This record gives sequence, C-alpha cells and structure tokens, in this order.
Amino acid sequence: MTTPAAAIRHLWTHKTQDHPWLSDRELVIDRAEGVWVWMEDGTKLMDGFAGLAVVNVGHGRREIAEAIAEQTVRLAYYPTTRQFSNRPAAELAAKLATLTPGDLDYTLFATSGSEANERAMQIARHYWIARGKPDKHKVISLQGGYHGATMGTFAVCGLPHMTAAYSALQPAGFTKVAPPYPFRDRGAGTDAQLVERRARELRDAIVKEGADTVSAVIMEPVLSSGGFIIPPLGWLRAVREICDELGVLMIADEVITGFGRTGKWFGVDHEGVVPDLMTVAKGITSGYLPLSGTIARGRLADAFPETSTQEVVHPNTYAAHPVACAAALANLQIMEKDRLVDNAAVMGQRLLDGLRQAVTGKRIVGEVRGRGLLVCAELVAPDGSGQPLPAAEVAKLDRKAWERGAIVYARGQVVRLAPPLCITAAEVDRLVDVVAASISELDAEVTR
Ligand SMILES: Cc1ncc(COP(=O)(O)O)c(C=O)c1O
Repeated sequence: MTTPAAAIRHLWTHKTQDHPWLSDRELVIDRAEGVWVWMEDGTKLMDGFAGLAVVNVGHGRREIAEAIAEQTVRLAYYPTTRQFSNRPAAELAAKLATLTPGDLDYTLFATSGSEANERAMQIARHYWIARGKPDKHKVISLQGGYHGATMGTFAVCGLPHMTAAYSALQPAGFTKVAPPYPFRDRGAGTDAQLVERRARELRDAIVKEGADTVSAVIMEPVLSSGGFIIPPLGWLRAVREICDELGVLMIADEVITGFGRTGKWFGVDHEGVVPDLMTVAKGITSGYLPLSGTIARGRLADAFPETSTQEVVHPNTYAAHPVACAAALANLQIMEKDRLVDNAAVMGQRLLDGLRQAVTGKRIVGEVRGRGLLVCAELVAPDGSGQPLPAAEVAKLDRKAWERGAIVYARGQVVRLAPPLCITAAEVDRLVDVVAASISELDAEVTR
C-alpha cells in the first residue's frame, strides 16, 4: 500500500525543492535499517545524512523499541513540574553527568534542540539575576550559527535568510561575530593566527556591548547549518578564556555535535573545554523519540539554594518525558556496547581520506574537510577564482547521489555527509564512491 498524494497534501508544507525531480509520492520513506532506508516504491538508499544528523545508532534498533514499549506500559507520562520526577529521567540525568566533561551535572530536559537553547539562555538569565547582575541579558552568537527555529533562537541565528520574515516579531537580537572559517578566511596566515584574530573580535564585541550587559556567548563547536564550518582546535579554548576573563557564560550548542558525531562524546572534548551550559538533542535518542536537554555546571546550579521554593525556568508539559528518557538510556547503552564513538572517529577519518583522495584534482572542489562523521566538500567555481560554485549547481549533487543510491545533503556551497555512527568500512567506501562519482560528473558538466 502506498500513501495517497491527497493525504500528503495535508502535511503543512515543508517544501524546500531539495528533490525537485521527484514527486511528493516518491519521497515517502517507508522503513529503515542500519544505514539504509527504503522508499514506499521499494527504492533502497544509503542514509548519508542520518535523517538530519540524528540517527546515531542507526535505524531499526529493537532494543530501543523494547525499552520504549516497556516504559510506556509502566509509566507513559507524568509531569516533572510541581517537583515530581521519574526514574528514567533521573537515571538519564545521572548518566549524562558521567558522560559530559567537568561539572556539567544538572540537566533540564525538553523536547527539541530549539527548546534546549531557549532554556540555556533562560537559565543564564536566571543565574545572573540570582547573582545580583540583572543587567546581563545579551547573548552573543556566531555568523552562520543555527540554534533552532523559535523566536528566541532566531534572535541568535547567524543565517539572516532564515530569520528575515520574523524580524518584526522577534527579540531584536544581539551582536553576531565571525567564526574562524579557515578555508575562506585563513588567507596567507596560519590557523592559529586566524583563531587569534577571531577571538580578538569576539572579545572586542563583548567589551563594546559592555560585559556588564552580556549574559552569554552561544556557539556550535562545528557550525552545521552554516556549512560544516570547522573552527580550528584552539578556538573553543580561546572563547572559554574570554568568557572567564569578562564574566560571561559559555553555551556550547551540541545538538548536532553531541553523542559521538565528531568522534568524541562531545565537540568540546576535542579541546578539553567545559562550557557553562551545554545543549543536546538529536543523538541523545538517535531520534527514536524527541528529547533534548540543557546541561548546567555545578556553579550555576549552586546559585539557586536547595531550600528555595522558587521555580527556576518554567518547564514544558513534556519536560523529562519518561518514555523519551527510557529511549535515550537504551540508545546510550547501544552507543557504549557497540563503541560507536570510536567507530565514528575511525570511519570519519576513512570517509574524509577516501573522499579527499577520490576528488583530488577536481576543479570544483575547494576543500574536503571533516571532524568525525561530519564530513563535507566545499564547491568552488571552476575558474580558479575560489568563488563559491552557485548553489543551484551544488544542489544537483543531491540528485546525482540519489541516482547512485545515497541520500546526501547539498546546500549552499557545501555537500554534507553525516551518516549513522554504526556505518561500516564497506559502507563508507560505497558512500565515497557515490559522492566522488557525483562530484566528478558535476565537475565535467560545469567545466565543459
Ligand atoms: C546546532 C543546532 N542547534 C539547534 C537545532 C534545533 O534543533 P531542533 O530542530 O530539534 O529544534 C539544530 C537543528 O538542526 C542544530 O543543528
């Protein structure tokens, strides 16, 4: 049985024209297993983007389904407002305290990454009020950064085309500074010099705003929606130092980079940095159920006395949903049992090396870069100018890869790969073949 087009029409439109050559009916996903998905018409494709960089343990994991079923009949729902809690939520919060670095020990659960970032900004605000600094409210972010699709997160979004329609509705927003983007901005200098320059700009921006008015800096360890921009190692340490010096909180948005995606448990682990707040979602359940969290350091929690009866951040109805937390616990068990963080590091390197080798010499390839299983190729004009290849040309890679058997994500000037962390060496090699052949074909077309 296939899904009727008339029914699909009732879905609120999410059309992006990423797949303009296919009808809506050909884009109904039916089932999935491991790194593979099947469309309703039977087409089998490799999931080169893990849904939306979500399905870290891979599709079709029965252990998670069983944990969900068991928890559903035991306790499907009870709120965690009014001081109630539940066992899966408490166990998960305790587990996260062991996985996250330093004293990131206290988790406020929510349902989406957007919400987790809203909560991070709200916790920061409460913290400064509790500390007697009520003027601290601004949140500095990065150009190219993405933190969600709510009004508050749009205020710190560094992708103006996404937020323009809401400018009249949204909080005014605050200063956005440039991230270190080596491929575009390194110039004749070194990565270290670039980091130094960008760090100086961040420091200057906070000083210019008035550190007494700045609550936090929010950033992704790797800027995903911005085009897989990978700041050189040293950047997060520099940000940490500036935040410490100027008395500003550091929020790491690990919604995509968390739970092994970059080859370590968290993106900040590459630099041994402990942010004041870390936000997580996606890989926490591998998408089997929606769940997110905002994880705070001890010193933030300590600002609110144990005996206080005042609510600190008003939670939503589904905060710490027992079934979602049970799914997360089962998901993390799989990650540990199957050593998926190590696998992401090894397979990520294989994917990066393989793709680099396979597309060497192609005129439209500016750079192939990656960290763990976030790997991309940035495409440039074939004339040697280094200018971005037009987005309409880059977008053709979606189709070329699809026709060769894989779903990839070609947007702007970058084709992005983020397969499930359970990917095998043979599957990596297949993905390399598909993407390299797609790029070669495009190269031949645009250099003709
Ligand atoms: C880095 C980052 N933060 C936040 C979000 C928002 O998460 P959600 O879509 O679950 O609200 C995303 C979504 O892709 C993201 O990539």
